Order: sequence, then C-alpha cells, then structure tokens
Amino acid sequence: MEILKVKDLKIYFKTGGKELRAVDGVSFSLFDGEALGLVGESGCGKTTTALSIMRLLPQNGRIAQGEIIFQGEDLIKKSDKDIRKVRWKDISIIFQGAMNALNPVITVGEQIKEAILLHDQADENEARRRVKELFELVELDKKRVRQYPHEFSGGMRQRVMIAMALACRPKIIIGDEPTTALDVMVQSQVFELIGKLRAELGMSMILITHDLSVLSETCERAAVMYGGKILECGRIEELYSNPMNPYTSMLLSSFPDISKEKRMPSSIPGLPPGLINPPEGCRFHPRCPHALEICRKEEPAIEFITETHSYACHRGGAY
Ligand SMILES: Nc1ncnc2c1ncn2[C@@H]1O[C@H](COP(=O)(O)OP(=O)(O)OP(=O)(O)O)[C@@H](O)[C@H]1O
Ligand SMILES: [Mg+2]
Repeated sequence: MEILKVKDLKIYFKTGGKELRAVDGVSFSLFDGEALGLVGESGCGKTTTALSIMRLLPQNGRIAQGEIIFQGEDLIKKSDKDIRKVRWKDISIIFQGAMNALNPVITVGEQIKEAILLHDQADENEARRRVKELFELVELDKKRVRQYPHEFSGGMRQRVMIAMALACRPKIIIGDEPTTALDVMVQSQVFELIGKLRAELGMSMILITHDLSVLSETCERAAVMYGGKILECGRIEELYSNPMNPYTSMLLSSFPDISKEKRMPSSIPGLPPGLINPPEGCRFHPRCPHALEICRKEEPAIEFITETHSYACHRGGAY
C-alpha cells in the first residue's frame, strides 16, 4: 500500500528577481513500512522535496505545481491549521545537525513533553510517561530527562532529536542526513537504532543520504535526483545491477569526498546544472559521456523496466 504519493511536484524559489526551479516535476511513491532513499549531488533538490512534504519551505519558496497525497488527502491543499495536525504527528523530520536546535535553558525531558502536549491529546502524566518510554526507545538513560542539552554529547542530542521526531508516533519519518554531523561510530549506532525503531513501530521512512553504505543497509529502494528531477528510481539491487541512466551508475560507483564530508561524490567530472536556466533536453547531458544528439534537445520520458524500476534516459541502459 502507498502511504505517500508525490505527483509532478514543482518547487520554485525567488532569488534576485529570478525563479530557481529547485524541484521540477518530481513523482514518487512511498509504501507502507519501507525506507526510500533520496540520493544525488549537492543542490539537486533533496532537502527542498523533504521540506515541501512537511510544508516547511523557506519564505521565498513556493509549491508551483503538484500533489502530495497522504492518506488520500493532498497535503498541498491543506490550510496552515490543518497541516499542523499532520506535521510531527503523522509525518516528522530529523534534520542534519538538528541536535543544535534544542533550547539550551529547558531540560531535555521537558522539551519532548512539550512536543507531545502540543501535538497529541495527552495529559501531563501521560506525556511524562511517554517521555520516559521514548528515552528508553532511543536508549538514553531515563535519569537524564532532567538534564539540559549541554550535558549531552552530540550523539546523545541527536538521539533526543530522534525521540522528538518519534514523540507522536508518526507514520512517516524523514531523515535529512540525520547523522552527518556525528562521528562514524555514533552514526552507525544511530542508524541501527532508527532501523530497529522502524521495525518496531512500523514506520515508513524517506532517507536523504550521501553515504552509499548507509543507503544500501537502510533502504529498500532509492530515487536518484539530478538537477531537480528524478532520473531513476528502483530497488537498491536494481540500481546497482542494472542502472539505466549513466548518472546512476556514476553516482553509485563514486566515492564520497572526504574533504567535503557532506557532499556526495567527487568523481563525476563537471558540476551540476544551474537551476535558474537549466540545460535543455536531459539535464545530465552536458556531463554525460554517452550523450546523443537527442539528449541535448529532448527531455527523456520516464519509462518502466520492471514494476519497481523506472528511469529517464534516451539510451535506455545501452551505454
Ligand atoms: N531558500 C532558498 N532560496 C533560493 N534558492 C534555494 C533556497 N533553498 C535552496 N535553494 C536552491 O535550491 C536548489 C536545491 O537545494 P536543496 O537544498 O534542496 O538541495 P539538496 O539536494 O538538499 O543539496 P545538499 O545535498 O547540499 O543538501 C539548490 O540550487 C539551492 O541553491
Ligand atoms: Mg540538503
């Protein structure tokens, strides 16, 4: 069953009197209980896509077109008041470096309790009990509920943010590079935890990551984004064994650039396109070693090769 369906989503930013097409016709589905990866180089529109699902776009951004169907309703059409009922309660997000968003002068337990009281019909006692339960869930010592954020390490604070994101038992959790700010050991602990909780609570997840090992360990499927579009989407093993767009194979075989830890690959020559005047045809054609004449002129349509594997490429895997 589909829990979320994004249809032909377009998100534009106003910048210096011009319009930047950060997300330009993106469609994908998220199924019950699955984890879907969202991958692609910096600036391809991953965070913008995630924020639009939460309806948390920056001031200068607007949803120009599309539908985001959650449980049969279009989130884009919801009023601000109604979207607040969905946000955190049904769909929540863990940001990169979210741990720095905690209020330094309020105890951690109190902050989670506030989140529960704000979004859920729980009384004070119930909320207090749930905070302890959440601490247990994210494997933090219950005695620490009375401590302040500065008394926690970075990894522990990110656990707190996960607890916060889980506070209202959402159906969908979005992780936008949720562990990037943490050291490698803590990263794998946090992912183990997220995986365990997902299984226990039956949550679906959208995971934005630049880490290919995390991607294949955590996600069943992935959507490959480039220049505001999805170029390919499929099960992880389909993308690795039978990439249909050259960008997918270049991305998946690239190594993360350690000097710029957050950025995805370093080994694809050239730069992603500007999104104010993106290239005609296939957006990847200026960097594609296999580009044909048609790739410069015509945008490739989305084709399905299996029920789960779709792609946009004029060459259709023949490269
Ligand atoms: N508030 C904004 N105003 C103008 N342009 C923006 C704004 N936010 C993002 N953009 C632009 O939108 C495009 C997509 O950005 P986005 O942050 O979604 O990319 P991303 O895939 O999450 O990248 P990263 O991997 O670096 O996090 C980029 O070109 C970015 O510069
Ligand atoms: Mg981002």
